[in-house]
Amino acid sequence: MAEPTGGRPLLQVEGVVKRFPIRRGVLRGAGAVHAVEGVDLAVGRGEVVSLVGESGSGKSTLGKCITGMIRPTAGRIHFDGVEVSGSSRGARGNFRRRVQPVFQDPRSSLDPRWAIERTIREPLDAFRIGNKAARAARVRELMDLVGLPAHLSQRKPSELSGGQQQRVAIAAALALEPDLLVADEPVSALDVSVQAQILNLLADLRQRLGLALLFIAHDLSVIEHISDRVAVMYLGRIVESGTVSEVFTDPRHPYTRALIDAIPRPDPTQRMSRTRLIGEIPSPVNPPSGCRFHPRCPVAIGVCSQDDPQQTTFSSQHRAACHVAAAQTASLSELPHERAWL
Ligand SMILES: Nc1ncnc2c1ncn2[C@@H]1O[C@H](COP(=O)(O)OP(=O)(O)OP(=O)(O)O)[C@@H](O)[C@H]1O
Ligand code: SF4
Ligand SMILES: [Mg+2]
Repeated sequence: MAEPTGGRPLLQVEGVVKRFPIRRGVLRGAGAVHAVEGVDLAVGRGEVVSLVGESGSGKSTLGKCITGMIRPTAGRIHFDGVEVSGSSRGARGNFRRRVQPVFQDPRSSLDPRWAIERTIREPLDAFRIGNKAARAARVRELMDLVGLPAHLSQRKPSELSGGQQQRVAIAAALALEPDLLVADEPVSALDVSVQAQILNLLADLRQRLGLALLFIAHDLSVIEHISDRVAVMYLGRIVESGTVSEVFTDPRHPYTRALIDAIPRPDPTQRMSRTRLIGEIPSPVNPPSGCRFHPRCPVAIGVCSQDDPQQTTFSSQHRAACHVAAAQTASLSELPHERAWL
């Protein structure tokens, strides 16, 4: 993926591969799930990069490799110039403080028995940061930062709304003053009205704290307003990346185009020309040959089922891996627009 502008990126992912051996079922011992297949990705300081793609495209697996929850099968991850994918425990300890995950379902990261004050304090306790009074003051500060009223401090998660629970999870993730949050679909379990509030909170935190964000989502509609750059993932690969305006206004990969066309629009004339992505993402156990998108691609040509397309660079930030996009100088927006995407 193209790099952020200006200096060394905070996070640099190079050629990361993650395969899960198949240990159960009829395919046991027969191979592996190719969840992530050679991903390059960079996030700059204070930058918001969104990673989008359908269910099963490998987004969470990549996020887990980045946060150190799982080890990549191959490839390298550098954080602030230090390799963390194969580093010593000491280096990883520092890295773990500086990169924090936020998950889709806040209940999975909140202990139901603990008052929220304890949940937010827990990372400070674990790293023995400050004395009791300093930790209590920091918890109050964090609650204020994420918009949680102080009177909720002794409530249990079950007494809070979904949006409040996600604010608690974000406050706990911020306790150790990380440089990067890896937020894996942090709003998709929430009501639509609450989603905007949490997105606004993340955008606000980025402004106030200079926080970088890797924002994982399965559709493009939620990420347009908070992202600087976007990476579109399909079956373990990044198929297109660029600034948010490049990807939204001049998509080069047919899959990106289908995702953009899937965004609900109020304008009925736009709705008529909308195209649909149909068919399912193939199994990552035996990915299709050539371009992995070819069985569903409406503009595939002969070479697509044989040769894996390389990334073509369209601008300093904008890249896509597609034979047809590489051969075209015009944008895919000029292609016929009425047919379904097979
Ligand atoms: N621990 C695991 N063992 C085996 N296969 C796994 C494991 N974790 C993920 N996978 C498989 O890897 C592929 C990618 O999964 P992943 O959860 O990363 O996708 P995703 O893009 O996050 O999807 P979603 O939008 O549904 O969250 C899927 O086929 C999934 O079944
Ligand atoms: S390489 Fe071929 S199959 Fe793949 S997206 Fe481009 S046109 Fe479609
Ligand atoms: Mg996921």
